[in-house]
Amino acid sequence: MKKVIIDCDPGHDDALAILLAAKHLDVLGITTVAGNQTLDKVTDNALKVVEFAGLTHIPVAKGMGHPLIRPPRHVPEVHGETGLDGPDLPAPTTPLDPRHAVDFIIETVMSTEDVILVPIGPLTNIATALRREPRIAGRIQEISLMGGSLTYGNSTPAAEFNIYVDPEAAHIVFTSGVPIRMCGLNVTRQVPATEVEIERIRGLGTRTSAIVAESLDFYRDTLKRVFGLRGGSLHDPCAVAALIDLSAVPAQAGPTLIEFEPMHVAVELKGEHTYGMTVCDCRHLRGRGQVSTSDGGVWRGEPPNAEVAVDIDKDRLIDLLIDTLAKYP
Ligand code: RIB
Ligand code: CA
Repeated sequence: MKKVIIDCDPGHDDALAILLAAKHLDVLGITTVAGNQTLDKVTDNALKVVEFAGLTHIPVAKGMGHPLIRPPRHVPEVHGETGLDGPDLPAPTTPLDPRHAVDFIIETVMSTEDVILVPIGPLTNIATALRREPRIAGRIQEISLMGGSLTYGNSTPAAEFNIYVDPEAAHIVFTSGVPIRMCGLNVTRQVPATEVEIERIRGLGTRTSAIVAESLDFYRDTLKRVFGLRGGSLHDPCAVAALIDLSAVPAQAGPTLIEFEPMHVAVELKGEHTYGMTVCDCRHLRGRGQVSTSDGGVWRGEPPNAEVAVDIDKDRLIDLLIDTLAKYP
């Protein structure tokens, strides 16, 4: 079973990603980073999720409270004042792992083979770990992240939130040499939790499904109000689903859930209109050898540094999520 660390900023979609991962992957730990809400609030929310889902065996470690350079940026208009508005969840009592999230990531990667990092919030923790202990770059099996976009942004017309909050951290990650799998808005916006999906979840009739449905009711309404979307985009579960071997899930036998293409991704750190954009080179210049230009040069593309999601089977992701939620009490 794949060994993962989920680095997150719960966050309604982060919560679903944790529930999906815990039933299909070996979750070595959950690390938190400031993003959707303050570090304290997202950390409390991570503890609330492991408590209501019966996952308190998974250590939770608290991480970076602000981006490397930029001022913090939170989105209560999307995830609410608590960061997980909707269900009335009790204040958590589960103790945190005593280590800082960055130390947790470094110690786990240095002591365990084939660890996969699954960042689904700003990349501040990951970048800090890479800078503090460069040797982890050669030991991390891959990074499967929700962030960026092949097309449009959400925080700005060009930039997606997780990248936009800490573009300098994202630049460190995308230039680290670690194999990256990027699930961007161009696919994650295709997986909305509308009334239809939420009622399917509520229909499971369990305590966990009731909490999840109530949280998605809130999230659907905020995204409708802010962006005019028809449902709550299930961004973060995509980065987890990308790692799940669907042949092992009998009801899902068939083609892959998400389609990826190798391409070079650069994080814009200067643009007036494009700061925080993931500039994805999908021209595929690399595949056709050296093509001359009129001024005696050649068309050049940077070598791919990421597998970028280009398509997703939305219905199969929803089915996988609901089949997984049915496994919780
Ligand atoms: O842009 C979507 C991303 O920003 C998701 O990870 C969501 O949880 C927020 O962190
Ligand atoms: Ca998130």
